[in-house]
Amino acid sequence: MGGKILSVASECVPLIKTGGLADVVGALPAALAPLGWHMRTLLPAYRPLLPHLAQMSEVLREADLFGAPARVVAGQIAGLDLLLLDAPHLYDRDGGPYSDTRGDFADNPQRFAALSWVAARIAREGASGWKPDVLHGHDWQAGFASAYLRYHGTGGAASVITIHNIAFQGWADAALIDVLRLPKSAFTADALEYYGGLASLKAALVTADAITTVSPTYAAEIMRPEFGMGLEGVIAARAGDVLGILNGVDPAVWSPELEPIAYSRETLSDKAKNKLALLKDLKLKIKGPLAIIVSRLTAQKGIDLALSAMPEFLDAGGGLAVLGTGDPAFEIALRALAARYPAQVSVKIGYNEAYSHRLFAGGDMVLVPSRFEPCGLTQMYGLAYGTLPVVAAVGGLADTVIHASPAALSAGVATGVVFHPVDAMGFSGALRQALRLYRDAPTWAKMQRQAMALDLGWGPAAAQYAALYQRLIK
Ligand code: ADP
Ligand code: GLC
Repeated sequence: MGGKILSVASECVPLIKTGGLADVVGALPAALAPLGWHMRTLLPAYRPLLPHLAQMSEVLREADLFGAPARVVAGQIAGLDLLLLDAPHLYDRDGGPYSDTRGDFADNPQRFAALSWVAARIAREGASGWKPDVLHGHDWQAGFASAYLRYHGTGGAASVITIHNIAFQGWADAALIDVLRLPKSAFTADALEYYGGLASLKAALVTADAITTVSPTYAAEIMRPEFGMGLEGVIAARAGDVLGILNGVDPAVWSPELEPIAYSRETLSDKAKNKLALLKDLKLKIKGPLAIIVSRLTAQKGIDLALSAMPEFLDAGGGLAVLGTGDPAFEIALRALAARYPAQVSVKIGYNEAYSHRLFAGGDMVLVPSRFEPCGLTQMYGLAYGTLPVVAAVGGLADTVIHASPAALSAGVATGVVFHPVDAMGFSGALRQALRLYRDAPTWAKMQRQAMALDLGWGPAAAQYAALYQRLIK
């Protein structure tokens, strides 16, 4: 059992993160190591990563990587075995991994085709004598990697694509097919062509040996038009190769016992100290539950549903603390809500890891009214912290939270409130139920203990990835 895996991604904690993808890519190597799998992670050397290069050694060169020479360097950073693609013409620039203040980078197709090209080359030929058994790509940014293996030779390597979010598909104009080093003969509906253009995620879905996504429910959802975003047919056609593997969370990072005001299942009453300190800092005065939202502020996350449902919850005595960035319209609307309820609502626009921990420790419930959610991590942080999740019945949210139905309550397994349909009425109803449960203190505490007893670590996911790799190698 065991072997070598090349993980290929655009984000990885603690180096570069815009969302949960980074957490998962950063956690997989350590989760797989005890099972005998050596995973190395290939990332673009974005500008903020360049200072690391001095301590790393060159393992591969490309004479012309979509416009200029490039190289791959290898080394250990933060316990990760990393390969960085040093291609200044593609990655040494201001802004985030995909965009700057003017919007998405126009050459994103080339930037991530380059990452995929180099990944395929390492899988095919190895780099400095290290040749992986499996290339494991994440999302559209690694999508062309398995296509390059298919059309330029696999060298015996197998491939897996993991879908973290099917809404992002890596669109590229059909005219780029030569530039992207893809064969014109494959520009057909059953191969690379996608609504008249190219999409790196579709390329992966038709060329990878196996397809995974980050929860069992999302795996089934994306075969249907409501969730497949145009790719439902492509996925359904490969249903036998699709696997939903639920993400884990790292208990060394997300555990209330590690917070400055520590608490556990056994010392649950100490959680209230976190709430008091938080309310004091935020200058909030509430008698009821404190709801929190830690999220990208986008339509996916149902921020508009939260905005419509919140006044009733606040009028009933609740409070809200939000941490997030995203769509400026949502930022403005949230700030307006805070202005309307100054003693009950706090909105912080920005990205802040440390403050997010304070919110999970001090909040009573975490709200995740997403329209779709491949897995979702914040509801799991909520479970671990006894900050009970109020979530939409979609994707990984449905797979991780057990609704407080009469049956689940009496069986002693309820861990939150799960609502459907996913609209403002549905969410208002869920918040009313959450308020009722909160006011029934013994029931609430029992649900908190049930949630905090769950094992949310990476063990089960790692075992499933390992079994998949093993099957592909044979
Ligand atoms: P997605 O990847 O779709 O954004 P996830 O729930 O999978 O959703 O992951 C989001 C991750 O980003 C979580 O680790 C969450 O705590 C973190 N996060 C989101 N927004 C912020 C923020 N403003 N500050 C700190 N952490 C954030
Ligand atoms: C994506 C999804 C999120 C998931 C994360 C990690 O960003 O939106 O639901 O948890 O990937 O897999």
